[in-house]
Amino acid sequence: MTLVKQLESALATVLSDQLGEPTSATVSPATDLRFGDYQTNAAMVLAKSRKMNPRALAEQIIAAWPADGIATAEIAGPGFINFRIKAEIYSARMQQAASDDRLGLEPVADARTIVIDFSAPNVAKPMHIGHIRSTILGDSLARIASFLGHQVITDNHIGDWGTQFGMVTWAWKNILDENALLADPLAELLRLYRHASDASKADEGIREQCRAELVKLQQGDAENFAIWSRCLKLSKQGLQQIYQRLDVRFDHWLGESAYNDALAPLVEKLLEKHLARDSDGAVCIFSDASVGDPTKDPFLIRKDGEWTDFPMMIRKSDGAYNYATTDIATLQFRHDEWKADSIWYVVDHRQSSHFQQLFSVAARLDLGALDLRHIAFGTILGTDGKPLKTRAGDLPQLADVLDDAVTASRKTVNERSRLETDDERAALAELIGISAVKFTELAHHRLSDYVFDLDKMVALEGDTAPYLFYSYVRSRSIFRKLEEPFHPGAAIELVEDAELHLARLLSRFAEVVPAVLDDCRPNILTSYLLETARAFHSFFEACPVLKAEGITRHSRLTLCHVTARTLATGLELLGIPVPERM
Ligand code: ARG
Repeated sequence: MTLVKQLESALATVLSDQLGEPTSATVSPATDLRFGDYQTNAAMVLAKSRKMNPRALAEQIIAAWPADGIATAEIAGPGFINFRIKAEIYSARMQQAASDDRLGLEPVADARTIVIDFSAPNVAKPMHIGHIRSTILGDSLARIASFLGHQVITDNHIGDWGTQFGMVTWAWKNILDENALLADPLAELLRLYRHASDASKADEGIREQCRAELVKLQQGDAENFAIWSRCLKLSKQGLQQIYQRLDVRFDHWLGESAYNDALAPLVEKLLEKHLARDSDGAVCIFSDASVGDPTKDPFLIRKDGEWTDFPMMIRKSDGAYNYATTDIATLQFRHDEWKADSIWYVVDHRQSSHFQQLFSVAARLDLGALDLRHIAFGTILGTDGKPLKTRAGDLPQLADVLDDAVTASRKTVNERSRLETDDERAALAELIGISAVKFTELAHHRLSDYVFDLDKMVALEGDTAPYLFYSYVRSRSIFRKLEEPFHPGAAIELVEDAELHLARLLSRFAEVVPAVLDDCRPNILTSYLLETARAFHSFFEACPVLKAEGITRHSRLTLCHVTARTLATGLELLGIPVPERM
């Protein structure tokens, strides 16, 4: 059980006793660590509804607080209560964590089936830096949810059925360079796409031809279908290479095209159930007025001072289906076939009205208590503060961004690394480059925009991945110098402030990891790891390990060991493997 849970349970006993009825209250980590480890405003909250004096109630709680518990309690301000965990409790926790693979984190009691929809690039268009946020965030959330004991299904819902195929097919028939396609398929497909996209912007006739190619494909034309299949296969191979480099895996790749056969019957069903209706030849879903407040109704929009319909179109007047139709079919499939309890969509914040509509449709379809989340994120900016672009003004390609990151880290590695061979240095540079991109992404609040500053990201000093690597390597290096065997799990004793502060942070691991999923924010974990690393360096400087003897020596080694395990496990949950040396 976490310390928070233990404190809450002790508090509930005291409160119920004092107030004469079953009562509980929450405990949270202290905001000011000088006054304690945890705190509660229980007295203030409860006094208010009971018209009591909060300070008097707090005093009453403290007087009844058990002396043999895990913490001492003290009153602060108008009625806050601060708890200070006893040193022997921290010692016992560290002793246990030293030989526990899960570092005290128990699997959840209510395991759910969670589908995580992330990455989802559009095939034949390049996977660009915008998809990087989704890929990295989604992968980390999947790792954390599985670690907590949920059944996680990852699905790469690639865009493999949209307008871009009309363009690529048209260009394929006109300007394909077979040799280039064999040499670098993604680059050639991108060239085709860009050519067609520019040409159709300039020429209405070409735009029509592209659209006609798409209609042919969707109606099952053999030649277009063959081109599409080949494009898809090549694109997937190219994507797979990037995922491999990022160490990202998917259980499924059910893209938009997988739902093609489900679309016509779905629209019929929605019409039958009166959830959708005809609108100028198209089929649309409108507001059902169940949301009283128009500002919260995703099917209404304010135009010229008035609320007007903002319907979700599910069949165009020419008979074509679209993104919304596929997404409803996909949701239904995940509910029916995968028995999903939750579906999390890790997608750019610009699609938020689409998801609000989609979730409202799901509610009208009576799919039971589904936890649907749009895990939105902001934009990556260049050092000029504007959305990141290449010099030519295009969206940067993910693969190029990764290469640039590795080049930048190669510089740091050459200057700072103690590794001897060039191979070792190259491998470390690759690891730091990729990890820096991941860590920077995860360390920002997902909704905020952030500046992509390679030199800062790969620096050894600062809130960076390399700083955590260095902390990990430092916590491990002591064991290489050790002559006697180390027995994790033997009794320890913590005395010094720096030891206790480090132990305090290390015992929070089991509280921090589950908290990430409350609002799907891995930055809670990155902040925690950085704070723990800082506490480790302060401890390491204040408390000699190899010069100490007896239980002090063993206690400090245990702290080093638990620090190393915590940093490595925490980083692994972010999709970042640690180096043993650097
Ligand atoms: N392919 C889409 C895009 O790049 C993202 C798809 C996200 N997933 C979903 N089920 N809509 O914008």
